[in-house]
Amino acid sequence: MSATIIDGQQIADRLQRDIADKVAAFKSQYGYAPALGVVLAGDNPASQMYVRMKQRACERVGITSVSHVVDASTSEAEIYAIVSQLNADPSIHGILVQLPLPKGIDEQRILSAVSLEKDVDGFHPLNIGALAMKGREPTFTPATPTGCMVLLREVGVNLEGANAVVIGRSNIVGLPMALMLMKANATVTVCHSRTRNIEAIVKGADVVVAAIGQPHYVKASWLKQGAVVIDVGTNKVDAPDTERGYRYVGDVEFDAALDVAGAITKVPGGVGPLTITMLLSNTLKAAERLAQG
Ligand code: GUN
Repeated sequence: MSATIIDGQQIADRLQRDIADKVAAFKSQYGYAPALGVVLAGDNPASQMYVRMKQRACERVGITSVSHVVDASTSEAEIYAIVSQLNADPSIHGILVQLPLPKGIDEQRILSAVSLEKDVDGFHPLNIGALAMKGREPTFTPATPTGCMVLLREVGVNLEGANAVVIGRSNIVGLPMALMLMKANATVTVCHSRTRNIEAIVKGADVVVAAIGQPHYVKASWLKQGAVVIDVGTNKVDAPDTERGYRYVGDVEFDAALDVAGAITKVPGGVGPLTITMLLSNTLKAAERLAQG
């Protein structure tokens, strides 16, 4: 084994302590806490778990979170109305609409309804657009890819001119990740389910971000010696040998990759804690921006 294991939990704990100090300073300056409005529609167990984790993290650092939980049959108009109400509520500074939304709901319409000032998930098309454009800076960037950038910075990777390969092109991770790496002057290739000869492309990568949602999809043999690997995948797989019968594994063949990679994130405990931390950081930023007018 040669790879450095990137402990996201440890990094997130440190950053969250800093956020908690800043939240305390905010409270003593303004007399109220930053507040996040959360919209959870439907009963997707993963979404329920993520929202619970986000709320607990808010509590830990002193951010107020207010949840709007509605069932899967809720109409688009009702979800739109909740977002509009949160936009208009001066006691709410950030809005998070947990994705995916139930079938039949126009996700783009709902995400576009979130006030730009409160778009702490960075999913508003104008924020994504600014991220894509040279010379423009979005107000907020999506939590997961922002967390990956923090991890890359922590490892000390020089992204300038580096070959970065992003596997997956989702709106939540792959696409904004590629845009952020491009902004950092990396040479970026995006691979996805239709990519031919993915192995050869990954072989040329100094940095690999795997966000395809398939357990152990990226083989250790594909990696270049010394590559820095950020594994965004959290895939639930059967594990009859464990008490609960399942465990979570990433998108990368972790054990074998340890012999090849220069550094690699753990799953769980790698990117996940940073996603939550970036949401907290964006919520504090939103409250500060609104307080300063
Ligand atoms: N679903 C999966 N990841 C995310 C995320 O970062 N934000 C939201 N809102 N939904 C998600």
